[in-house]
Amino acid sequence: MTSKHLLLRGRLLSFTAEPEGPEDRDSYVYVEDGALLLADGRILAAGGFDEVRMRAPEAEVIDHRPHLMMAGFIDTHIHFPQVQVIASWGAQLLDWLNTYTFPEETRFADASHAARMAERFLDQMIAHGTTTAVAYCSVHKASAEAYFTAAARRGMRMIGGKVLMDRNAPEGLRDTPQSGYDDSKALIAEWHGKGRALYAISPRFAITSTPAQLEMAGALVAEHPDCYMQTHLSENHDEIAYTARLYPDAPDYLGVYERYGLLTPKALLGHALHLGPREIGVLRESGAKPVFCPTSNLFLGSGLFDDAGLRGQGITNAIATDVGGGTSYSMLQTLAEGYKILQLRGQRLHPLRAFHWITRGNAVALGLADRIGTLEAGTEADIVVLNAHATDAMALRMERAETLSEELFVLQMMGDDRAIAEVYVAGCAQKSGTVSIL
Ligand code: GUN
Ligand code: ZN
Repeated sequence: MTSKHLLLRGRLLSFTAEPEGPEDRDSYVYVEDGALLLADGRILAAGGFDEVRMRAPEAEVIDHRPHLMMAGFIDTHIHFPQVQVIASWGAQLLDWLNTYTFPEETRFADASHAARMAERFLDQMIAHGTTTAVAYCSVHKASAEAYFTAAARRGMRMIGGKVLMDRNAPEGLRDTPQSGYDDSKALIAEWHGKGRALYAISPRFAITSTPAQLEMAGALVAEHPDCYMQTHLSENHDEIAYTARLYPDAPDYLGVYERYGLLTPKALLGHALHLGPREIGVLRESGAKPVFCPTSNLFLGSGLFDDAGLRGQGITNAIATDVGGGTSYSMLQTLAEGYKILQLRGQRLHPLRAFHWITRGNAVALGLADRIGTLEAGTEADIVVLNAHATDAMALRMERAETLSEELFVLQMMGDDRAIAEVYVAGCAQKSGTVSIL
């Protein structure tokens, strides 16, 4: 089969390893006059423009100079039914859930509402340069159907799952251990591995699941070891105390998930803020991934993530927005707030590691680095084109930026959706809307 080839020209940045320091030049490939050759949704070649051009002289060229081309951003924790919860005032976690979030999520029983919100959610992903996300849907099976259907139509590599919750939530937002199991099983059969979709078994958190439900979730994990498992862990002190009352025999919060067999390298644990030494040891042994959610942790007043402490134990941390507890869809803004949180911790997030984190780093955490997160030949053509001069304030600052790291730091601290000049999903331009190579 022959397909149209597309050649993107611009500056290229792709990471090959996690940068060890702010000047670690061995961790990335940077090409000033670079090119990416795309066909059939994949990157066929990456390198210098002249060299790549010779391989496909007939390819249509899209010139993105002087912008910077990078792998599409990956958001490892977000709630798709919370697009109309973001920016809800004045509460910390448990009140915020009861006052704003749960009432809103009941609306997703209506499949047409879920379908509309799924489209709007994916619009936001694209606008902000996010080409893969791991999302919680609502408790309703139809919400996950809507999410995967919308993502498939756009050819996006999206991960998600129907939330499991059978207690401490309003009528209309509770399943049962059996119905949650059956619905998840049916969704896995229908969606996991279909096209670019992947399934995440999603017990919301210990408070909203009975022991019987977590047992069923553990059965799902055992029966589907290639699915992800996502939940929340140790976000807020009242949440931790309530969990201890509900699970009095557990040694600590993580011990609840451990007891039900939920902890594997495919487990994503949102927040993971207030951990004891035993929990950190269990994280290390299990290979489960803590997920840092900076804008959410600040917005809900939850706490300051200990990135260096966990990394020092050999644990791989992911990073995410957690919208609607999070306040921005932008992984750039997420990095900016992450930088500030780590400052308060006396830790440093240098720009090379920051951009590695939201691309290859999150791909590694998901076990998907051979498919997404870099610009290597053979990987899927999810690409973001960044403009560090997107606003007057950024352009003014850029007058005094001389190095790649300085440019990246301007994007990290001042960038948002305005800095996203173009996005390609499986080789299709999303903003100009004119180019399709599939
Ligand atoms: N813990 C349980 N559910 C949620 C949620 O929707 N958002 C956040 N931030 N924490 C949670
Ligand atoms: Zn969350």
